[in-house]
Amino acid sequence: MSDSPHSLFDLSGRVALITGGSVGLGRQMAEALAQMGAHLVLCARKLDRVQQAAEELKQLGSQTLALACDVKDPASIQSAVDAAIQRFGHIDILINNAGTSWGARTEDMTLEQWNKVIETNLTGTFLFSQAVGKHMIPRRRGKIINIASVAGLRGSSPEFSAIGYSASKGGVILFTRDLAHKWGMHNIHVNAIAPGWFPTDMSAKIIERNKHRLLADIPLGRFGGPEDLKGAAIFLASDASNFVTGHTLVVDGGQSA
Ligand SMILES: NC(=O)c1ccc[n+]([C@@H]2O[C@H](COP(=O)([O-])OP(=O)(O)OC[C@H]3O[C@@H](n4cnc5c(N)ncnc54)[C@H](OP(=O)(O)O)[C@@H]3O)[C@@H](O)[C@H]2O)c1
Repeated sequence: MSDSPHSLFDLSGRVALITGGSVGLGRQMAEALAQMGAHLVLCARKLDRVQQAAEELKQLGSQTLALACDVKDPASIQSAVDAAIQRFGHIDILINNAGTSWGARTEDMTLEQWNKVIETNLTGTFLFSQAVGKHMIPRRRGKIINIASVAGLRGSSPEFSAIGYSASKGGVILFTRDLAHKWGMHNIHVNAIAPGWFPTDMSAKIIERNKHRLLADIPLGRFGGPEDLKGAAIFLASDASNFVTGHTLVVDGGQSA
């Protein structure tokens, strides 16, 4: 008889690096993994917010490391990964969560605006996966979780004018599927989460402006809350998902059903 299924979700002693782990959905997932016993490496550009989150999450009993990093900058990514390895010796879980958006009509969007979104959301996910993957490959274990979006599953109406964002998230979903094929041989699991609408710094204004219309499209009749991403993150970070790779887990209250 195998152990209790509870142990499948246990993350005691595992090391998780979460980009953009200071606030919003990254902070929520960091809390979830710490509650299951993981140690945390949090990074984002504004170090004070990362330090504050790391200090708060330490109260849950996990060790935490707060780092400044910009996922648009390969040197900054490498130094964050080096610092994490130096402190903990390895990384078991990588959550590529750092993200940004830019609202502009497609015909007006500048190349600079487009590039900023693609470099953060898509290229940053590639560069971080590469830098961490080099350490996961020889250990023959690793869980990579890429934060996509339901915006990456299909087109949206002209009022939600952020074509660089949806293109980047569509790219993250296919990057996830392809990397799962490439690194399955190394026993590295690569999955994505596609959240629907969660009120955060990034989404608060759009949600405020379009509240009733957005809610009408969500079968569960509400936006995502502070616990709603935790189960998906724990599942994909833990042994409970050991036969799952290349999957995009949609957490959207049924919006895309
Ligand atoms: N909220 C939603 O409704 C929703 C829905 C679907 C998908 N998502 C995705 O979920 C992820 C988190 O979004 P959120 O809503 O939690 O947004 P948020 O509250 O604005 O948080 C974004 C996080 O990413 C960090 N970040 C941004 N640019 C970065 C960069 N260049 N380098 C390193 N860190 C960077 C931010 O910290 P600094 O500014 O200090 O760098 C912050 O920690 C994103 O990938 C987003 O696309 C969100």
